[in-house]
Amino acid sequence: MKVRPVNFNSDNVVGAAPEILAALAAANHGAAASYGEDPLTARLEARFRDLFEHDVAVFPVATGTAANALCLAACVPPWGVTFCHREAHIACDECGAPEFYSGGAKLALLDGAHAKLAPKTLAEALASGGAGVVHHAQPAAVSLSQATECGAVYQPAELAALAEIAHAHRCKLHVDGARFANALVTLGCSPAEASWRAGVDLLSFGATKNGALAAEAILVFDPALAATIGYRRKRAGHLFSKMRFLSAQLDAYLDDDLWLRNARHANAMASRMAAGLSALDNLGIALVHPVEANELFVRLPEPVRHGLAEDGFLFHGWGPPPDRVARLVTAWSTEPADVDKLIARAAHHAGAGGPRGARSGRSRPGQSPIRGNRRAATPSATPFRHPRESGDPDRRRPRARR
Ligand SMILES: Cc1ncc(COP(=O)(O)O)c(C=O)c1O
Repeated sequence: MKVRPVNFNSDNVVGAAPEILAALAAANHGAAASYGEDPLTARLEARFRDLFEHDVAVFPVATGTAANALCLAACVPPWGVTFCHREAHIACDECGAPEFYSGGAKLALLDGAHAKLAPKTLAEALASGGAGVVHHAQPAAVSLSQATECGAVYQPAELAALAEIAHAHRCKLHVDGARFANALVTLGCSPAEASWRAGVDLLSFGATKNGALAAEAILVFDPALAATIGYRRKRAGHLFSKMRFLSAQLDAYLDDDLWLRNARHANAMASRMAAGLSALDNLGIALVHPVEANELFVRLPEPVRHGLAEDGFLFHGWGPPPDRVARLVTAWSTEPADVDKLIARAAHHAGAGGPRGARSGRSRPGQSPIRGNRRAATPSATPFRHPRESGDPDRRRPRARR
């Protein structure tokens, strides 16, 4: 069965929200002061101050990479180190921008379940970080992603624990919030509680993945750290002359809680998919990370992976072989019917009669319910290939994968 291509590759494969396009059209009337001196940008700054209940410095930029790299450059000297998870976007997917923008500073990569930093791991790394030793690069920042690259969410108490450790070692805490809205609706707390009240010093506040065309905001809660960012942003080519168009996107993103509504929808679609696929666990389909935002990481038997791809569902393989899994990402515009179709087709390819798994009821206690297709549950003979190594010429083209 062919479905029209249904793209779960990422939340940045979808378009921009109509509200944001309308705001861009509205901002297109008449002239406005350039380089961020326009009234819309001033209004945006005030809105972020209200939203975060804090005197926050706001720097709109066009990409998450720029937001992250500029945040880190503001608090990490060329001889400094940023501690982050080894799966962090800043470590894996920014082509060395954080190191470049901070003049050659290092990233120190840490382990942790679900791409989360663990307080103990961070404390140990910082304790042996060589602070004050002239031969060693100096600990300067800790960066974490909220939600993480594995779709997990830090609770405010977890953020606070990491912030305390970071600050005790005179490091700043940066949050890559490309999916901050998705994390926040899961937490159900205020933006302040998920940021500065928990000790966050700088936040890359994402919008592109959740409905903007191309807009992110650097939010700095410590005025001293904000002092150089304006210059750094200009030097990096992210001081847009027609800044009002970035600000218009972010302004519309905050209007009527669009950012939260969009994130709630994306998360609901991920939960719906997770519930449907979890019901197929007796057929060798397994979620490998908790689904706490809008990403799923799923172990799929090879016939299921292959069958879904043949049907027209797009999703990336994730992680090194032989542990490669499928990553499926939902977005603000994901259709529930497409989620249901994927679940039904996964069930079909796994050999079930329906989404609940026709075989499940037939297994006897103590017997594996995976029957007739045992190979499907074992590591596949033709494991997933990362898009970068794929034989498909289209997928071999270099492109953003997250
Ligand atoms: C965790 C994370 N951070 C940051 C980004 C922003 O990246 P970009 O520079 O492509 O906007 C992404 C996007 O894929 C991401 O997944």
